Amino acid sequence: MNRFNVKAVAVLVLLSGMVGQRMAVAETAKPADVTYTKDIAAILWKNCAGCHRPGEVGPFSLLKYQDAAKRADFLVQITADKRMPPWKAEAGHIQYRDERRLSEEDLAKLAAWAKAGAPEGDPKDLPEAPKFAEGWQLGEPDMILKMEESFTIPADGNDIYRCFVLPMNLSEDRYVEAVEFRPGNRRVVHHAIMYLDALGQGQKKDAADPGPGYESFGGPGILPTGSLGGWAPGATPMRFPADMGRFVKKGSQLIMQVHYHPWGKEEQDQSQLGVYFTKAKPSQVVLGIPMIQTRLKIPAGEARHRVTTETVVPADVLAIGISPHMHLIGREMKVTATAPDGNKQVLLWIKDWDFNWQGAYGFATPIPIKKGTKLELEAFYDNSQDNPKNPNSPPKMVRWGEQTTDEMCLCGLTVATADHASMTALAMMRGARIGLIFGGGFPVDNMKQAGGVPIPDDYKAVLAPFDKNSDGRLSDDEINAMPPGVKERVRAAISELVGGAE
Ligand code: HEC
Repeated sequence: MNRFNVKAVAVLVLLSGMVGQRMAVAETAKPADVTYTKDIAAILWKNCAGCHRPGEVGPFSLLKYQDAAKRADFLVQITADKRMPPWKAEAGHIQYRDERRLSEEDLAKLAAWAKAGAPEGDPKDLPEAPKFAEGWQLGEPDMILKMEESFTIPADGNDIYRCFVLPMNLSEDRYVEAVEFRPGNRRVVHHAIMYLDALGQGQKKDAADPGPGYESFGGPGILPTGSLGGWAPGATPMRFPADMGRFVKKGSQLIMQVHYHPWGKEEQDQSQLGVYFTKAKPSQVVLGIPMIQTRLKIPAGEARHRVTTETVVPADVLAIGISPHMHLIGREMKVTATAPDGNKQVLLWIKDWDFNWQGAYGFATPIPIKKGTKLELEAFYDNSQDNPKNPNSPPKMVRWGEQTTDEMCLCGLTVATADHASMTALAMMRGARIGLIFGGGFPVDNMKQAGGVPIPDDYKAVLAPFDKNSDGRLSDDEINAMPPGVKERVRAAISELVGGAE
């Protein structure tokens, strides 16, 4: 029995005078054992204060006793419902990096504490206050990309999806081992996605749209040639495992897509991205394996519409993370990997999808995935009137598209691979473009060294006649020998596949 037990018992004993029932009283008084200073502060500081402190995204601070005590019941309810801390992946399948979850023990302590009237406890029990790193958490970046001018977010109105085009001025191809996004204004910056554009497409859009950047919901409104990942509140920047990096083609521009959420007062934002390059060319390139179902036809009124897609992994890879994506009426997504030997593994299961809390889930340790592994994606959509997130009232048939009111069904498995053949195989996958977004770009050297671009199965019948040496690939010379018209189209298709690098 610790001294709080003793204290509680002593008080109760004094009040009731039931000396003979000391132990029984101590049992029922158990919730009083839990105090803020001894138990609760540590739980809130570790799991909540990262966002719930001044200047962060949480709507109130949870650093001090009073902050927590005055809303103790609310904290219990919201954590029991698993609404906070925000973490959508189900437990019990894969171990992720930086998981945000309260243990059953923590939940029980919170409940007991609130039930006991949120006692503060002995100030001496208070653990050392948490230190939150100011400035760049990964140290001084090699390159800082900052919005050129600040962007004004009106006091109210719809959410804003704005893309800012930031030149990287790279005179040679580089590899990125980490990025760190720093929102300029945490009140309104909801999340951000970093796309790469080696084709100057973003610049054209920017020029055509008044104000800094350009408007684009969902995707970046261009065909990205790569990606540098994303940021959501509470995300901790991290480096890839050693000797891995995302490819950035020289001359690329960063398209920083920021989702703003107006909050009642006009605000300004000027966010920035710190980029950390690998010192040397890494032996493993980070890429994305796309799982995608574009044939969406979600009937109006249907509350549980099922969508599936299957993808076979074309090479041995190391999986390092997974990034699901749906829009507003998405409810559930599950991704299962079945290895050639039949071994099944659930890589991600989100049962309560929330567009506002999408993010990338990094695996605690890289997962080897064998060539021939089947990735099965199953998603559910709620297009009923009863879904409060349904943007259409009354509900309408929803199909694939970029608008808020459209839907998407995709998920990227971020993988690393060392060899050219694997990279080429990934580049030729259906939906490889999406893979680029979730992974990095494709270093074109790999395509060239592989002796040209392999002809995708779907195009064999059409393109085989141009494959003069019948090696299943189209080399530069073979493409040049094509008739005008065909040549340009094939070139365009290849440039899309290899991130505009041809
Ligand atoms: C990753 C950032 C983040 C973390 C970690 C986090 N919160 Fe929040 N919390 C938010 C944001 C943003 C909101 C406001 C938007 C929302 O409700 O989704 C919020 C809202 C809340 C609300 C008010 C909800 C409402 O409906 O008004 C409560 C209560 C809350 N959080 C408690 C907690 C507790 C308790 C923890 C820790 C166990 C926690 N939060 C961890 C970001 C976070």
